Amino acid sequence: MKGKQTIQFDFNNIMAERIGPEHGITEQELRDVQPIAAQYVKSLKDERAAGRLQFLDLPYDEKTVTEVLKTTTSLKGKFKNVVVVGIGGSALGNIAVHTALNHPFYNILSDEGRKGFPRVFVLDNIDPDKFAGFMDIVKPSETLFNFITKSGTTVETMSQFLIITKLLKDKLGKAYKEHIITTTDSKKSTLLDITKREGFKFFTIPSGVGGRYSVLTPVGLFSAAMSGVDITDLLDGAVFMDKVCQSDNIWENPALMGAALYFLSHTKKGKNILVMMPYSNALSGVSEWFCQLWAESLGKKLSLDNKIVHAGSTPVRSLGVVDQHSQLQLYMEGPYDKVITFCVIKQFNENIPIATENNIEPELEYLKGQSLNDVMNAEFEGTQLALTEQSRPNCTITLDKLSAFTLGQLFYLFELQTAYGGKFYNVNAFDQPGVEAGKINTFAVLGRRGFEQRKKEIDALCQRVQKKYCI
Ligand code: PA5
Repeated sequence: MKGKQTIQFDFNNIMAERIGPEHGITEQELRDVQPIAAQYVKSLKDERAAGRLQFLDLPYDEKTVTEVLKTTTSLKGKFKNVVVVGIGGSALGNIAVHTALNHPFYNILSDEGRKGFPRVFVLDNIDPDKFAGFMDIVKPSETLFNFITKSGTTVETMSQFLIITKLLKDKLGKAYKEHIITTTDSKKSTLLDITKREGFKFFTIPSGVGGRYSVLTPVGLFSAAMSGVDITDLLDGAVFMDKVCQSDNIWENPALMGAALYFLSHTKKGKNILVMMPYSNALSGVSEWFCQLWAESLGKKLSLDNKIVHAGSTPVRSLGVVDQHSQLQLYMEGPYDKVITFCVIKQFNENIPIATENNIEPELEYLKGQSLNDVMNAEFEGTQLALTEQSRPNCTITLDKLSAFTLGQLFYLFELQTAYGGKFYNVNAFDQPGVEAGKINTFAVLGRRGFEQRKKEIDALCQRVQKKYCI
């Protein structure tokens, strides 16, 4: 049955035929990129075969699934809370999965309502007030902390690690170790060293899989399985999408077509902003995850042949229907610099009728016999149509249903599309020198050993810059 739950990519409203050649892509423009796109498919396949694109093979890693499920089974009933501590690619996948697949108010359901599964929280930002507030609501004795950091050194995660382990030790003595599970690089990581020394339970992330491509490793799988998400379905969905995206014909490969359309819209039609607008609260986490994936992978100063290119289009999160009352004004009448991607669900889990009785205010009669689903749908269709009428390029990804199986498809589609994006922009979609630069400066400012030279440079820079434009 689940094999029938698929996703469709409708890009009619991005095409010139629908919105004109000034803003839309012509079939000829797609035909022109077909030969190079076919080469990208081949080169990605070659890189994959050579073991350089490990994220593409994650859905086939049965050993990891078995290990994750064994661990979650052994932990069943032991904790009221699971707290993921991580940031960026070590947090956003978790948020995406939980927001998509768990009850919308999962953490405030009763134990019964959660079917005995623990509450799941993600601590990414290190805002001190948020941290303190969070510690007010969880008891360490009832909580399992999953520290996730690929590099094993990220300051946000490791500073929370130090605070929390001290707190656990103080409260629980030797038993504190039972409350910690770490997820980190399989080869080189400070957290891995600590883990081995202390004897914590741990999962590893394959060295060749970068943070933002790691949702289908234990990074995302463990907390998902802890809350009862069917991780096998999630991975099966990814496998399904892998099969769908094999063709080197742009018209038959949605990941390749998506990358080509975004790239052409940007470079030929000036659409340097990519709005991701799901009409589903449950998909809001996916749009946040997507924005990191697209921005961090493709926003690059240097091309693969070392030229300064400052590549990338800017992803923006938006939410239907909420942003119809906010951002939409800009999308409709502001600069012609955006492509909007809608993400919709054909069949929501619930159907909520609005009103059936006869004595409704005449002004509200039109709502009689309708459901919230009808209103949501009407608002989506109305917005899609209005944008198209204004020649605003937009496309729609439709999920038959939102399930672990379709979410797995979506993750894989977007990851692969981003890898193809790297090919089109001719940049390395798998490094993040800009993010690393921020990490290095933070280490230097905080006085980390090995970063003395950078600290000197920063001090010199700060002395030169007078704060004269400050009110
Ligand atoms: O995608 C990435 O590489 C980054 O967003 C990282 O996930 C983020 O910086 C956190 O890094 P780490 O997992 O090493 O703590």
